[in-house]
Amino acid sequence: MKILVLAGGLSPERNVSLSSGALVCQALRDKGHQAALVDLFFGLDGHEEGADLYAAPIPEEFKRVDRQAPDLGALWARRRSGGRSAIGPGVLELCQGADIVYLALHGTCGEDGRIQATLDLLGVPYTGSGCLASAIAMDKDLTKRLVAGQVKTPRWETVTVTEERIPELVARAALPAVVKPIASGSSVGVYIVNTRAELENALAESVKLGGRTVIEEYISGRELSVAVLEGRALPSIEIIPKVGFYDYANKYQPGATQEVCPAQIPAQWEERAGQAAVAVFQALGLSVYARADFMVTGDGTLYFLEINTLPGMTPTSLVPQEAAAAGIDYPTLCETIIRASLEARKGGL
Ligand SMILES: Nc1ncnc2c1ncn2[C@@H]1O[C@H](COP(=O)(O)OP(=O)(O)O)[C@@H](O)[C@H]1O
Ligand SMILES: [Mg+2]
Repeated sequence: MKILVLAGGLSPERNVSLSSGALVCQALRDKGHQAALVDLFFGLDGHEEGADLYAAPIPEEFKRVDRQAPDLGALWARRRSGGRSAIGPGVLELCQGADIVYLALHGTCGEDGRIQATLDLLGVPYTGSGCLASAIAMDKDLTKRLVAGQVKTPRWETVTVTEERIPELVARAALPAVVKPIASGSSVGVYIVNTRAELENALAESVKLGGRTVIEEYISGRELSVAVLEGRALPSIEIIPKVGFYDYANKYQPGATQEVCPAQIPAQWEERAGQAAVAVFQALGLSVYARADFMVTGDGTLYFLEINTLPGMTPTSLVPQEAAAAGIDYPTLCETIIRASLEARKGGL
């Protein structure tokens, strides 16, 4: 099968995505597929004229993720072909020439439904959920509202933060709290705040990220993540960062976080977490696979935080570890995602 792996793009999670894409492309080649890795933003820019991307080596440096998210502004200056399109030269033609596009993208321009809608219109099958479900799941406020009747989520308020509104928001918020952009990922822009001064700083940062912000009740407890593959929950994984919370650095620096899979929790908690992940998956109309994040308090109360429709596939990522605990190795996971996605697209999902 001819598989185009799309990665990179204009997202703060660009480097995470390049890491996911490099590993997925390698795994598919190892399984004997024709696979090419293409950067959504740069496309053929930087490649020699007439280059065969299906034969191109996979850059080793993509596999590691830096400690910090990249500066996206600098990318525009680096693209030789210029223009205003977030889709690089030759990308759409490459997509049309493939049997399926494997979306190794994360966050904005990848996980938010827009590339899915573009590929739908082009008639090109792609992996993961469809455009509407992806767009809804990307929005933390809409997601929480849609699942509220079925799973417990931390109390929250969604606000549009401006410099002028910060004092009023700081004065009335309950602490401790978590401040997060309405539509981001990889903990980019997420702050856990204990004091009004910390809240003020976090809100000032959220203005820079566009202002639409979720201020959420802080849940003190253990962190779990549960993947859903083809409608069924995989074994849960517990996330134990060595220092601080599960922020960008702790997500992608090998050894920074201890991941225990299957999580060492009572069987009842495991069952409830699996059921909650599947309930969210269904409520949002997701397909193929996804990964739901939770906090669980000492008495076993489970709080759903968010669900990721194109979860990471990097060396430190969680879904591959959960799949391995269920006896599914990384290349088989990639092939399962492709097979299930081709079925989902046929069904119009
Ligand atoms: N309400 C909360 N209580 C405690 N920790 C939280 C809460 N919300 C988020 N976190 C922490 O922040 C991390 C990122 O938040 P999350 O909502 O999953 O956003 P992202 O899309 O950036 O992954 C979580 O993995 C968790 O460690
Ligand atoms: Mg998360």
